[in-house]
Amino acid sequence: MMDLLIPEKVHDESRQGEPLMLEQTPEKYNGRKLYIESYGCAMNFSDSEIVASILLDKGFETTKDFTNADVIFINTCSIRENAEVRVRNRLKEFKVAKSNNPGMIVGVLGCMAERLKAKFLEEEKLVDVVVGPDAYRDLPNLIDQVDSGQKAVNVLLSREETYADISPVRLNSNGINAFVSIMRGCDNMCSFCVVPFTRGRERSRDPQSIIKECTDLFGQGYREVTLLGQNVDSYKWKPEVEGESISIAEIKGTNFAQLLAMVAAISPELRVRFSTSHPKDITDEVLHTIAEHDNICKYIHLPVQSGNSRILELMNRTYDREWYINRIDAIRRIIPGCAISTDVITGFCSETDEEHQETVSMMDYVQYDFAYMFMYSERPGTLAAKRYADDIPDAVKSARLTEIVAKQQQHSHLRMQAQLGKVQKVLIEGFSKKSKNDYAGRSDQNAMVVFPVKEGYKPGMYAYVLAERCTSATLMGRII
Ligand code: SAH
Ligand code: SF4
Ligand code: F3S
Repeated sequence: MMDLLIPEKVHDESRQGEPLMLEQTPEKYNGRKLYIESYGCAMNFSDSEIVASILLDKGFETTKDFTNADVIFINTCSIRENAEVRVRNRLKEFKVAKSNNPGMIVGVLGCMAERLKAKFLEEEKLVDVVVGPDAYRDLPNLIDQVDSGQKAVNVLLSREETYADISPVRLNSNGINAFVSIMRGCDNMCSFCVVPFTRGRERSRDPQSIIKECTDLFGQGYREVTLLGQNVDSYKWKPEVEGESISIAEIKGTNFAQLLAMVAAISPELRVRFSTSHPKDITDEVLHTIAEHDNICKYIHLPVQSGNSRILELMNRTYDREWYINRIDAIRRIIPGCAISTDVITGFCSETDEEHQETVSMMDYVQYDFAYMFMYSERPGTLAAKRYADDIPDAVKSARLTEIVAKQQQHSHLRMQAQLGKVQKVLIEGFSKKSKNDYAGRSDQNAMVVFPVKEGYKPGMYAYVLAERCTSATLMGRII
C-alpha cells in the first residue's frame, strides 16, 4: 500500500459568513463514514481530494479505519501490472470487512476502473461501484443507485472536465505542501503507456481557478504548491472570447511558463514545484522563468525512459538521444545548479545489451540527482502490446534494472556530496522520521535535509541549513 489517506475538512476562508446550505447536505448521507485509499501517481492522490470534497459537501464524514466504514473507495493505478496486483490484494482484505458488514459499499475509482470498466463487477464480486477519473461529480448518484440495490458504473471520459470549481479537501495534509492539478489527461501516445487510455484527452484548467486555489492555500498557511499534469509543458489555456474588446494576451492565451510566473507572483514566501516535464516540450522560456524566480524550485523531473534513439522511437517518445542531451545542456546553462531527476524503463521490447548501455551512458552524462526505475511491463491495449513482442526475459530486465539502480545510488551520493559545505534554504515540513529532536524538510533542489530543532523555528518556516554530512538520500546539518 502506498499511503493511507485520512481526510480532514480544512478551514475554507472563502466560505466564511455564507449561510449554511442545508439542501446541499441531505440527511440520507449525513454521518455516513467514508474511507479512501490511493495508489499510483500524485494525480490520483490529488483526485482523491476532489472525491472527498464532493462527498463531504454532501454530509459524509471520514474514517481512518476501513473496518467500520460505510463506503470504502480505492483509487487505483494501472501503470504496471504490479500496481494492479496490489489493488487486487487489497480488495481481498476489504472482502473480509464487508462480510462482517454486508451494508458496506466498496467502490473502485481511478485508472484501473477506467481500464476494466464493468468487467470489474464480474471479476470482483465485492465491488459495488466502478468510477473513472472524469466521473467523480456523479458519485452521489452512483451511491444512490447502489443504495437502491443495483451495481453502478460511470467510466465516461470527458474532453472538458477539470474539476476547476471544486475546492479539494486536503487529505493527510501537513498544512505546508499541497498538490494543485493544472491539467488532466495526456495526448502523447508513448507506446508503453496506459495513461492516455485511462485518463483521456489532454485538457488544461483555467489559470484563474489555479491562481485562486494557490492563493487560498497560501492564506491557509501552505508554503509549497506542486503543479500537476502528465505533461505540464503542454499546458495551454485559451479563453473562449466573445465580443470585440479582447486584448492580445487574451488571444494568445496562457502557456506553462506564464502560468508558472503567475503562481510565483502570489508571494515570494510560496514555493512552486511542478511535475512532469516532457523532454519534447520543455522550452527555454520555461527554463528562463524558473531561473528568474527565486521561489520556483530549481528542480526538474525530466523522464528519459531510454538513452538509445532506436528504443525511444519504438517508445514513440518523439525525441532522440541528441535532443534529450540538448535539453539537459540547456537546463545546465540557463539554471546553474538545477537538480534533475528521471524515469527509466529497462528491457523494453527488443532492447539489446548495447542499447541498454546507452541508457547507462546517459545516466553518466547527466548524473541525475534521483531516478525512478522500472522493468518494462506490457499493458493490454497499448501500442507496444499490439505491435511489439515483449521479448526481453524477466531475468535480463531485472539484471539491467539492478545495474542502473546501483549506478543511480552512486550518482545520488555524488550529488549530495556536492552540496556539503553549502547553505541550503529548507522549508521545514515537520519532525524527522527518526527523532523529535530533529526537523526535516526539502532544499530548493528537492534534497531531504535533517537538522536539530532550534528555538524560534517551526514547520512552515524557512531555515538556512549548512550541510555537513550526507547519505545518498539525505543531507544532515545545522541551522546557521
Ligand atoms: N507523464 C509522465 C509519466 C507518467 S507514468 C511522463 O511522460 O514522463 C510514470 C512512469 O512510469 C513513466 O515515466 C515510465 O517510466 C513508467 N512507466 C509507464 N508505463 C510503463 C510500463 N508499461 N512499464 C514500465 N514502466 C512504465
Ligand atoms: Fe504516458 Fe507518455 Fe503521456 Fe507520460 S507523456 S503519461 S509516459 S503517454
Ligand atoms: Fe497510475 Fe493512472 Fe497515475 S495509471 S500513474 S494512477 S495516471
